[in-house]
Amino acid sequence: MECYTKIDDDLFYVGYSDRRINLFENVYPVPEGVSYNSYLLLDEKTVLFDTVDHSVSSVFFANLKAILKDRQLDFVVVNHVEPDHTSSLQMVLECYPNAKVVCTKQASVMLGQFMAIDLSERVLDIETLQTLNSGKHEFVFVKMPMIHWPEVMATLDKTTGTLFSADAFGSFGAISGSIFADSVEFDEKVKETYRRYYTNIVGKYGMFVQNTLKQLGSVNLKRICPLHGRIWRKDLEKLISLYDKWSKFESEQRGVVIVYASVYGGTELACNLLANKLCELGTLNISMFDVSVTDNSYLLSEFMKNSHIVFASTTYNMGIFVKMEELVSDFVSHDFKNKTIAIIENGSWAPTAKNLILKRLESLKNITILDNSVTLKSTVKSETKTQLDLLAQTIANSMN
Ligand code: FEO
Repeated sequence: MECYTKIDDDLFYVGYSDRRINLFENVYPVPEGVSYNSYLLLDEKTVLFDTVDHSVSSVFFANLKAILKDRQLDFVVVNHVEPDHTSSLQMVLECYPNAKVVCTKQASVMLGQFMAIDLSERVLDIETLQTLNSGKHEFVFVKMPMIHWPEVMATLDKTTGTLFSADAFGSFGAISGSIFADSVEFDEKVKETYRRYYTNIVGKYGMFVQNTLKQLGSVNLKRICPLHGRIWRKDLEKLISLYDKWSKFESEQRGVVIVYASVYGGTELACNLLANKLCELGTLNISMFDVSVTDNSYLLSEFMKNSHIVFASTTYNMGIFVKMEELVSDFVSHDFKNKTIAIIENGSWAPTAKNLILKRLESLKNITILDNSVTLKSTVKSETKTQLDLLAQTIANSMN
């Protein structure tokens, strides 16, 4: 049975949501599910913008069949090759043998790697094509390398001001009810689904996002249709300005995220005492997480949002505690910038975590490491309490 939404007179949302998925890309928890978006235009020519993950393909094909009826599919625009958007493409091309694939040259090479059919007679590369005209609608293409793979492009419908934006401007979360972003309040919980998605999927490539925003700067956008999450047709500048901020690694707020790795509670206690003291000193926006409990994808999103981070780790096998090591490694590999960092380490006989964390952070740019890091042995004693108070004061001063 079909389940689609009419977006405009001739444009339809034909994607679908997966709430059974546990890990997106087999790594990011998505307890709120995820949508795989695809859009179908019925003009003089018919155009499909991207396909969907195979997990939701049965409803997707029912949608195509119900909307196209006896019409053929003329074009499939592939804005992004990643299989969450192309694992149904081969079947689409088999069902609609006249359909041509419109994509970048690099995308056509990558499609050949993923798919088992010969595309050589079916691909129209955008470098040659330049524009696509379907009748009333004229499309141009905007290359968006590394958002989030190198072959990515967005497609701009010049007739309606609609941007088919690939992964850009997407979010985690299944679509419940309305496909339009203005149908739900853009509160902190919703914003988090965008920030966590952005930080983890695209976050490393801020410079490329900046380039894309510059290219789109002069375009009068009326609608953004991403490959995950809802369609934006109002207050587009709200989302675009967040992308501008995130891609420059500018924090949304002055705030402290304390992340700790604690085996027997000593490091956790130190962090609680630090947080209490920060609060006493009037610091706002303090949050604290156990790295063994909270998935890194949420923590990276908190780092994106806030100006200050405290890494607090016990020493383990003469190294950084394994969960903290993973987090620091993720932080470094996402190339975070413009953060202020403090460190607490613990080690019952040979604390080494602090120096190892500092070594890992050396490759990052515009990172400020605060003085007065704290070393505790096993748990907090009166002298470590004094050190923690001093660290709290140092953090508070740096926030003002
Ligand atoms: Fe949603 Fe990069 O794929």
